[in-house]
Amino acid sequence: MRKPIHRPALRHAVLTLLVALIVGSLYLPASAAPAAAPSGQRLRNLSGSLLIGFASMNNFWSMSDSAQYQEVARTEFNFLTPENAMKWDATEPSQNNFTFGQADQHVSFAQTNGMKIHGHTLVWHAQLPDWVAYGSWNSTTLTNVMYNHIDRVVNHWADGQIFAWDVVNEAFNENGTRRSSVFQNVIGNSFIELAFRRARAADPVTKLIYNDYNVETVNAKSTAMYNMVADFKRRGVPIDGVGLQMHLSGNGIDYNSLAQNMQRFAALGVEVYITEMDVGISSTTQANLQAQANVYSNVLARCKAQPACKAFQVWGIPDKYSWRTGENALIFDNNYNAKPAYYALQTGLGGSTPTPTPVTGTRRMQSYNFQSRYLRHQGYRARIDENVSPFEDSQFRIVPGLANSGAISFESVNFPGRYLRHRNGEIWLDANDGTAGFRSDATWNRRAGLANSGWSSYESYNYPGQYLRHSNYLMILGAVSGSLQQADATFREQ
Ligand code: G3I
Repeated sequence: MRKPIHRPALRHAVLTLLVALIVGSLYLPASAAPAAAPSGQRLRNLSGSLLIGFASMNNFWSMSDSAQYQEVARTEFNFLTPENAMKWDATEPSQNNFTFGQADQHVSFAQTNGMKIHGHTLVWHAQLPDWVAYGSWNSTTLTNVMYNHIDRVVNHWADGQIFAWDVVNEAFNENGTRRSSVFQNVIGNSFIELAFRRARAADPVTKLIYNDYNVETVNAKSTAMYNMVADFKRRGVPIDGVGLQMHLSGNGIDYNSLAQNMQRFAALGVEVYITEMDVGISSTTQANLQAQANVYSNVLARCKAQPACKAFQVWGIPDKYSWRTGENALIFDNNYNAKPAYYALQTGLGGSTPTPTPVTGTRRMQSYNFQSRYLRHQGYRARIDENVSPFEDSQFRIVPGLANSGAISFESVNFPGRYLRHRNGEIWLDANDGTAGFRSDATWNRRAGLANSGWSSYESYNYPGQYLRHSNYLMILGAVSGSLQQADATFREQ
């Protein structure tokens, strides 16, 4: 039989709920709080002589989240490629009418923030204005149009202001034949060589690069590129490097073949640039995020192992601005939170997550989102709750991580030997019951608070990218995106 509800108890419950709602609403962030900087060192501070770059999007200075974009850009990267602003349609939209206003802003941002600049791109079949693509040219008139474009664009940033130029972009088909384009069709095979010679005459210092996609491993297309570079080197046509764009999927590529491919270009005496890396995944499951991180990490490792590999660039900052819509392809999520792929690069560049400060005594964990509530347990289930009796349920000893002493574990003060751990997305207080994975399931990496860097967040040792957080009153293990979830995964140790 059900117990009758005792009226004062009911009143108390209603009152508690009201207070919780009011207090809770006071601490709900009104708008998306800026994401905290990732833990550990910034990529550009770790990269040594390897340039670490990104593609800068159009009008990044006037977007609603411009401040956050610029903060990540200037702190993480030391190499900048305008994603669209230096292309032909932006710089010479009608014949002999040169417009550099947009591109100048990218250059100035890079220069202000100590970044080198990668010009992209002088001669390409795409983003080419109709007046070029559909003009009625003969070989001489089109060559002159191409020369004029190269001269005026390269000379606009003279004196080595542009560290490297993609002189020609994507001129081969997958089978190694030349791609049809107005340049190929009207001028013929020599258009690439003519463009490189002209670019060298316009700027004797900048690096001259040929850039393409699906040329990462040894295949018909990369072999055509190889034969062209070998021929250029033999005949003294100026070329300094090749760009491997690196638009990949979570399945990755054959990394031994990548290494072999880079080595054969190095042997020709040219440099290798990873120019546009992104890695598409269909959804942000833990497994996909980890697979993506592995692809980034493997490519970086091969680049680092090859002395001729000079730069590693990602094709954008947060996922939401990637040209690969819905593919979650970059190293920051939509809210600028660092993804496992970011940390994979950080680790690959030699960085490490700082060892948590050893904590002695016991701690209570105050919720950022509901600051009158604390992480506690009731029986075996972990909750976020007001600090009502028994008080001991909200006290934990923070001890070296059971699975890794660089991380931490939470041991209950009330029940020594029982630890906060996750089981199928839920958080429990448990003793080691012999379950496989107990130790790593009970181990957490302390990170800067996702909602406020003065606080802390706890990432699962076992599942990077999944955080200790609460959903209403219950503690869960979950991925975090969006300001509310960030606040739900943020705690203060008291
Ligand atoms: O600027 C116009 C805007 O005025 C207009 O309202 C809007 C409507 O569609 O389009 C805007 O232009 C878009 C431009 O990006 C700037 O956002 C174009 O439609 C769009 O096609 C263009 O896409 C770019 C794509 O190259 C074009 O081929 C992507 O941002 C850019 O990431 C991508 O980059 C290329 C590299 O240059 C070469 N390698 C492959 C890589 C990925 O495709």
